[in-house]
Amino acid sequence: MQHDTDNTADKRPGIGPVPAEAILQRVDQPIALATGLPNTSYTSNTTFLNDRDKVIGNNWACIGFVDQLATSNFALPVEFMALPLLITRDNDDVIRVFHNVCSHRGMKLAEKPCSNNGALRCPYHSWTYRLDGALRATPNLGGYGEHNHPEFDRNVNGLKEIRSRVWLNAIFINLSGTAQPFDEYVKPVLQSWGKFLSLDSLEQFKISDSESHLTLTVKSNWKLAVENFLESYHLPAVHPELNRISPLDKHYNLGMFEQSAGQGSLSYTRLELNNKQLPVIPEWPAEQINKAEYPALYPNTFLGIHADQLFIQYLQPIDHQTTVEHVRIYYFGEQSLDAEFAEHRRSLQNSWQSVFEEDIFAVEGMQAGRASPGYSGGAFSPAMDQPTHHFHKWVATQLAADSNAD
Ligand code: FES
Ligand SMILES: [Fe+2]
Repeated sequence: MQHDTDNTADKRPGIGPVPAEAILQRVDQPIALATGLPNTSYTSNTTFLNDRDKVIGNNWACIGFVDQLATSNFALPVEFMALPLLITRDNDDVIRVFHNVCSHRGMKLAEKPCSNNGALRCPYHSWTYRLDGALRATPNLGGYGEHNHPEFDRNVNGLKEIRSRVWLNAIFINLSGTAQPFDEYVKPVLQSWGKFLSLDSLEQFKISDSESHLTLTVKSNWKLAVENFLESYHLPAVHPELNRISPLDKHYNLGMFEQSAGQGSLSYTRLELNNKQLPVIPEWPAEQINKAEYPALYPNTFLGIHADQLFIQYLQPIDHQTTVEHVRIYYFGEQSLDAEFAEHRRSLQNSWQSVFEEDIFAVEGMQAGRASPGYSGGAFSPAMDQPTHHFHKWVATQLAADSNAD
């Protein structure tokens, strides 16, 4: 029997670059009619760098946690989307972010995390910088034994600083320097959390040395990790255990703001071990104790707020098909770090590890699917994929806005 329909024609929808305006046009439709970002948004190094410069670079992106800088006078090199960056913690514990490049001949300044005496020496000609970026020493700059030159101004040859902000132990940067103030960026989410907690309580979340850290590597584009985080639609298939205690029908889409969307649960169950539970935020309303919310802060930061724990996760995109996920789990109040709660912390850390690991095959499978010419953007569930559609529209808008500015 012959089977030959128009659907089998090789229209090659996933092949070739798609202009930013055309992407926006196909995404910015009523959700039932919209198509998502094209395959090339996920499969090429060109679009990866485009994401860096036009989507991530123009906004606030998380690139690290303060606890990675173990002591005062510490420097931490970070590779972020093929950019060498340097996070420093000075003698006064001020955190700054710089381009990790010497102002002289462009040598990469620091290769490894290092504690130091407050100075960083370039390995090439030994120009030395303070951790606030100032150029402090330029040996033999004016000739052998002469370290200055009358026409050379050290003050304009310091390290190039990047706009940054520390928030709840997380270090954010805005590469372009043009994003809205950080406080405005996080305000909608913080306001929506006002029903649960005060800002003072948020500051009382603590990190444990050994039961707060998770790192996972996924072979997928960073955007697929965002998309997966935004929806609960996959719960029954991907997280059967979680779905048993926090089922799909007890989830809801969060309010969508310009740079945030996500999902919430009505059936978060606090862990109980040995008849004990972790300390909870005192003002968290009793009737909402089973609520938890999981907003993403675009482009690369995920939050999870619960009465007794918070997590912050950020994505470190390595290349167009590799992303490292860094997670910190925070527990509420000093007491939560006591030995009596060690088992609780370990258990929560293990269960988040399992949940995040369960997601890996899904995002990697979506990445693999984007090599197919039989797909380019797909479809959205009008009910379940609203946050995902919102993210696609945001990305497409960023790309189109920046291409208009060219
Ligand atoms: S390149 Fe750094 S001192 Fe010359
Ligand atoms: Fe998931």
